[in-house]
Amino acid sequence: MSMLFCTPSVFVIGDEYEILLNAKENGILYLEIGGEEYFEENAGVLATERAYARIRVPQAALDEAKRYTVVYRKTVDHKAYFSEMGEPMRRTFAFQPIVKKDDIRIYHLSDVHSGFENAKGCAAYFGDQTDLFIMNGDIAEVEEHEDFTRVAAFLGEVAGGRIPIVFVRGNHDTRGKLSHFYTDYFPANGKDTYFTFTVGPIFGVALDCGEDKPDDYIYGAEYGFKSAYAGINRFAAFRRRELTWLRALEKSDKPYRLAISHICPMQTTARAGCEFDIEREVYTEYSKELTRLGTQLMLCGHIHHPYLILPGDGQSLLPHSFPILVCPTSKRTDDGFVLTGAALTLSEGKAHFAFTDEKKGHLREGELSL
Ligand SMILES: [Fe+2]
Repeated sequence: MSMLFCTPSVFVIGDEYEILLNAKENGILYLEIGGEEYFEENAGVLATERAYARIRVPQAALDEAKRYTVVYRKTVDHKAYFSEMGEPMRRTFAFQPIVKKDDIRIYHLSDVHSGFENAKGCAAYFGDQTDLFIMNGDIAEVEEHEDFTRVAAFLGEVAGGRIPIVFVRGNHDTRGKLSHFYTDYFPANGKDTYFTFTVGPIFGVALDCGEDKPDDYIYGAEYGFKSAYAGINRFAAFRRRELTWLRALEKSDKPYRLAISHICPMQTTARAGCEFDIEREVYTEYSKELTRLGTQLMLCGHIHHPYLILPGDGQSLLPHSFPILVCPTSKRTDDGFVLTGAALTLSEGKAHFAFTDEKKGHLREGELSL
């Protein structure tokens, strides 16, 4: 891997790619694609005192070039003037854009909870035929910077820097001492971790519901009436800002329109009235907006077993007009960690889905007309 700590990740956000680079030592990192150079935007200055960068590039540029070169220059001494930087070192990676109009193979994973080895087994389902990965939250909690880089290394191994990834925050990704650095590292628009994306024939709305309990939730007597979040979380305001953003979006004319959210806003829990049954008023509005945007299928995680919710089938707390796949099995047993994901093929206006395990076994499969 030479100067790099791990293989880059190519995230999809908006109509761009955001490429996450990690070096072994502090230095500047930038990209060369099709004769152009691309840098991280830091108001005109490149970061020298860290070993990572995330760089936005137009999808059209990388789709055409189908390769990108990472350039690294080690920081020797960053001074106010006459800084000393190492000579450029380069490494080139192949990229596989989605140029197909149909038959798109997506592997969806969530709730990995640092079970990276298990997740690699699941993610290998389509092998070289994978067109897109969706990583739908709760990949790992964040106590130290290495928690970020471990995720980056995992993504690099799974996607090889070659296959695009939609990466969405889950509630566990909001936990831990360094969780507020998420937006410095993973895809976000400024400080907003909700976004739209277009890739190939797909338009997507990626939502972030934040935590799964109210900001002021107090655990009961068995925990000594302790506050769950101790005043750290401000997700009530965050969700309302997200709703304002959602209301301003325009419907896409892409043939496949997905919504991605770690927590399902319309079924935050299977137990009505419990501590996870929150924000019904706001989430009802999310559902209406997703309908207005022509959502055909929603992909969620968080509840650790795989199932399908159809509109009006009585499983949801709130109404919705589109089917919802809740995909992961994620649990720790005496025999170790068990994980499943969802293999999804979009073809001829239909979505074929299979819940699959680490050995490519099918737990359940089916087809939905979109
Ligand atoms: Fe979760």
